[in-house]
Amino acid sequence: MPRIPIVAGNWKMNTDAGTARALVEGIRAAGASDARGVEKVLCPPFVYLPLVAEVARNSTLMVGAQDLHWEEKGAFTGEVSATMLKDYATHVIIGHSERRQYFGETDESVNKKLRAALDHGLTPIVCVGETGDQRNAGKMQDVLRGQVRGALSDITLPQSAIIAYEPVWAIGTGVAATADDANDAIAFIRGEVAALQGNATAQAVRILYGGSVTPANIAELVGQPEIDGGLVGGASLVAESFAQMVQAIAS
Ligand code: PGA
Repeated sequence: MPRIPIVAGNWKMNTDAGTARALVEGIRAAGASDARGVEKVLCPPFVYLPLVAEVARNSTLMVGAQDLHWEEKGAFTGEVSATMLKDYATHVIIGHSERRQYFGETDESVNKKLRAALDHGLTPIVCVGETGDQRNAGKMQDVLRGQVRGALSDITLPQSAIIAYEPVWAIGTGVAATADDANDAIAFIRGEVAALQGNATAQAVRILYGGSVTPANIAELVGQPEIDGGLVGGASLVAESFAQMVQAIAS
């Protein structure tokens, strides 16, 4: 079974109600919803999930959150649970490097969040990736292995799950990994998934590349045998450019 490619837009802490609406409308107007053979996911800030879900209705655009808490409900000020997300989102990003870097996300919390997402039928987009220092020190594989094993500990991953390889040094820098390097890293991650979850799951799971993906480089990246799409920050905030990335890998 061929893996259907994905373009996922991680809006991070950007847009307001007006620009969020305009962005989804613009993406629809640019024809991205009609593109075949590619899945599209928009991940706005929590507060705009209802709005984006409403504007995306009756389109092929899917909606994802950028994080979740692992508990169902309770005294966790400021947090949002899978139960709440489910009304508006089908996907959820887990363990983005910015959450690991600035908000104390660990492999343990990623593991709990992944379990909560799966328990509630949300499709996870689990992020892993090494820093520039780790790569330069020759530790890339160790870091990726640790993050993958930590995330998947005592979890049976469904074939619908998504992983994103996002080297930290490539995020928001304008310097993407080369297609070859990204392909090698993703092949390594797929090998780790195979060791933990079996080959059928490893072959079915989509593994995206993220880090300075643009309309100019997405086709080459996704043309690699192991790369199943892009998790895109900056370039997903402009409707035309999101639509161009979708068209570039549509069948
Ligand atoms: P970028 O961000 O495309 O702006 O580099 C990617 C990400 O952090 O998901």
